Amino acid sequence: MKFGHFDDANREYVIETPRTPYPWINYLGTQGFFSLISNTAGGYSFYKDARLRRITRYRYNNVPIDMGGRYFYINDNGTIWNPGWSPVKTELDSYECRHGMGYTIITGKKNDLKAQVTFFVPQDYDGEVQQVVLTNEGSAPKTFKFWSFAEWCLWDAQDDCTNFQRNFSTGRVEIKDSTIYHKTEYRDRRNHFAFYSVNDKIDGYDTDRDTFIGLYNGFHNPQKVLDGTCGNSLADGWSPIASHYKEITLAAGESKTLVFVLGYVEMPVEQKFEADGKTINKEKALAMIEKYNTPEKFAAGMKELRAYWDKLLGILNVNTPEDKVNRMVNIWNQYQCMVTFNLSRSASYFESGIGRGMGFRDSNQDILGFVHQIPDRARERLIDIASTQLPDGGCYHQYQPLTKKGNADIGGDFSDDPLWMILSVSAYIKETGDWSILDAKVPYDNDESKAKSMLDHLTVSFYHIVNNLGPHGLPLAMRADWNDCINLSCFSDTPGESFQTYTNPKFKAEGGYSKVAESVFVAALFTYVGPNFVGILNHLGKVDEAAKAQEQIDKMKKVMMESAWDGNWFMRAYDAYGKKMGSKECEEGQIFIEPQGFAIMSDIDKDATKKTLAAIDERLNTKHGLVLNNPAFSKYYIEYGEISTYPGGYKENAGIFTHNNAWIICAAAYAGEGDQAFKYYSEIAPAYTEETSDLHKTEPYVYGQMIGGKDAGSDIGQTGKNFGQGKNSWLTGTAAWNMVAISQYILGIQPDFDGLKVDPSIPANWDGFTATRLFRGAKYNITIKNPSHVCKGVKSMVVDGAAVEGCVVPYVEGKKEVNVEITLG
Ligand code: GLC
Ligand code: GLC
Repeated sequence: MKFGHFDDANREYVIETPRTPYPWINYLGTQGFFSLISNTAGGYSFYKDARLRRITRYRYNNVPIDMGGRYFYINDNGTIWNPGWSPVKTELDSYECRHGMGYTIITGKKNDLKAQVTFFVPQDYDGEVQQVVLTNEGSAPKTFKFWSFAEWCLWDAQDDCTNFQRNFSTGRVEIKDSTIYHKTEYRDRRNHFAFYSVNDKIDGYDTDRDTFIGLYNGFHNPQKVLDGTCGNSLADGWSPIASHYKEITLAAGESKTLVFVLGYVEMPVEQKFEADGKTINKEKALAMIEKYNTPEKFAAGMKELRAYWDKLLGILNVNTPEDKVNRMVNIWNQYQCMVTFNLSRSASYFESGIGRGMGFRDSNQDILGFVHQIPDRARERLIDIASTQLPDGGCYHQYQPLTKKGNADIGGDFSDDPLWMILSVSAYIKETGDWSILDAKVPYDNDESKAKSMLDHLTVSFYHIVNNLGPHGLPLAMRADWNDCINLSCFSDTPGESFQTYTNPKFKAEGGYSKVAESVFVAALFTYVGPNFVGILNHLGKVDEAAKAQEQIDKMKKVMMESAWDGNWFMRAYDAYGKKMGSKECEEGQIFIEPQGFAIMSDIDKDATKKTLAAIDERLNTKHGLVLNNPAFSKYYIEYGEISTYPGGYKENAGIFTHNNAWIICAAAYAGEGDQAFKYYSEIAPAYTEETSDLHKTEPYVYGQMIGGKDAGSDIGQTGKNFGQGKNSWLTGTAAWNMVAISQYILGIQPDFDGLKVDPSIPANWDGFTATRLFRGAKYNITIKNPSHVCKGVKSMVVDGAAVEGCVVPYVEGKKEVNVEITLG
């Protein structure tokens, strides 16, 4: 069942009912100011850091779901409603929500009154702008009452929802003309305030929540809205809000447009106040309001936003026989990559924004899907991330976006972290040809005095693996590898201990983790990522160092075949007892997805590749995607850690963890199995799940982290229940990796050090496809023909009329347009 449809021409998803199976959200803002907005206008805003600089309040896990947002209330002679249906939930005569690229349009209609609200965050602007168009579609004049509503968060979202003994007494506001200013702690130690304005005269306001809503009412029935009035309340502690009140009369057919701004302002300390030393200096705020105070200016801002996305999405454009592929590649997957790049795993409807900062491995992987969009921002990010690295190549697992410092609470020793850095820097160089990044001076542990070149960072990353091998010569597993929930040194038996950070006393003397437990996944990642490092060294003419590194890679491949090959697939690990994990010898968890894809793409062994792909198809594949492991764990294995705490079929315990589905898609494509690759791609690609949105639940335009696996429900004796149900949408490495999988492996358009490589691995029944790709200043017009209906194999390549050997289009400086014609066969 569908709850809406794609409008590809406008790049929108059009939601046709407010009762989606879960709130379906969008993100506004791509720079500093961000808003989350659901299809009923729920959600919240923040500046840069969803925890430390939260602007509006949101209650997670609320009952009913998704309460709190920016709401407009209408009281039309006793009929009370919201344009987005919620929170009042009066049945509307019509409803529609259009989530687009950086904007959302919600339209509701009741009793001939139509309210269309457009929300967006303009470019280079720290605020959400909202345009409300009210139209009387009836034949008689209409008089009604109208309120806006936003609830302030007292800045630190964590403190805001816990420290009530203080917070109920600190809230402060100021009102001037039609603008409500939120200035809690501004007098003292904060140099920022927020405001909510409207470009029209108001008939009143409220800033005290209890006055507006009433202590025993809710968002669904605010007392003032019921009464058809306002309290002109001035918050002094408790919960400050911002609500404008207006009485409106519209003649038949008449429209009224109001433009609201929810803004954030930072002030230099010496300019914070007016001459009286306590009134907010509003100069900057007024300039912001002025910028969007008419419908014309609003329209211009929207046009600019569209142009911005035209440009970003113009970099890669494909035309394949599958509409759903085109829609994912050209629009939604790229859009999601921007969101994950900006927000990492911090703020979504499943991530509270108070839990964690940016992940080292997450942000590095996010670069892979984003780098072609804005390489300059990717470069800056790479340097920020690398600056948190430790001199021995180890990494803080997370860092805070506001301070850009490594997060000591969680610490380091995640065995895979350093490798992702090599992969992301390589991807940046392949995209841009900007080798100078390797010379950039980058601090260690944010200490400028310890700065060394980026190349040095890559070198210590590579050798951090080599220098931390276990008894079989495989990398030590440490606290966890990519799978945060395989914790082979934790042995936790006490509730509340973090599986990722708890140090079991038995490993204290060894540095905090077992020197026996080894990760086959990290080994496979090493052999996949390593050649990039070698390629870089060779390019720089450091052939001896390159040869030395290659030796380590070759050695690791050998070890993998000797000690990690299980006969039909690669094992997952050796645990702290030196016992096999992810082997046919195990009772549960005999096969894991993670090492397989990277092992295949490392060309370790042809026969192993074949067997592994077959085993994946047989043991892991389902109609809703590939499960992470099989069989699921049905009890707690203290020696494995968090993975076995999840009921079977969810999350890392045999859930369909979509992130690593992409690695298999890449691997199958790499191995020439285009049909198999595409099958896995279409099992999880959101556009393909649209038809079953009632089951899938989450947004059909973006990936989620997880889909219930075939074992879902096994814990309650109802195996198969919730199989196919999505969770944790939006912020997932799946966005970047599936962008890579479809564009670079299936469609085969892959930036390489020496130029653009084009080596598709497509479904055999495709006749071909076309694509345009902007790459290092030139536009590549690519045509792929598949007359013999093969999956893979470039039979001939013609570049600007001349035949070229191989499948890498040689890079020619200064060329503006390149025509590439490839025939498969
Ligand atoms: C989450 C984490 C990611 C990790 C994955 C598997 O998505 O953000 O870093 O690799 O879970 O545990
Ligand atoms: C939890 C999640 C996992 C995440 C980890 C680290 O274990 O299940 O997905 O990666 O926390 O934040």
